[in-house]
Amino acid sequence: MTSAATSPLQQFANACHDALKADPGPKGRRQICALLADVLKDDNFIAAHLRDDTAERHMLYEDPELGFCILAHVYHGPKASQPHDHAHSWAIYGQGRGETHMTDWEKIEPASADKPGKVRSSRTYTLKPGMLRLYNEGDLHSPRRDGPTRLIRIEGTNMEKVKRFEYKAVAED
Ligand SMILES: [Fe+2]
Repeated sequence: MTSAATSPLQQFANACHDALKADPGPKGRRQICALLADVLKDDNFIAAHLRDDTAERHMLYEDPELGFCILAHVYHGPKASQPHDHAHSWAIYGQGRGETHMTDWEKIEPASADKPGKVRSSRTYTLKPGMLRLYNEGDLHSPRRDGPTRLIRIEGTNMEKVKRFEYKAVAED
């Protein structure tokens, strides 16, 4: 339910909730992508939630019923992550400012708690302001940022509470 007094963030969260409630699968997530695309065009929303003093990972909203999270990320300099998936969950990366160079990875060997999995790069692409990408369960990816970047990300569940396995890249031959 929305009202004139509801903040743009709460309106966005409510719309995401409704989309996932109607369809928790890829269809509902694609609906969230459409909602996030509008948010990324909203300079007021970006200025309000991706500020100079925003942390590298800042929780904007965690849904009490469905568990999905809306996160702000502000990186002031280069930052790269290893290949990873989001375990049993999914994530949508929405680029607000700057560029993220993303690599997708193909799984060669599965990971376990004792042993990292093996992956091979399958493609790379650049997320520019206003662009977004959905990673469904098991989709392996690694972001690299060469300069300052600001993102809005949606996670299917709060990944701080989930243990994830490691993956190592194998050399191309
Ligand atoms: Fe990720």
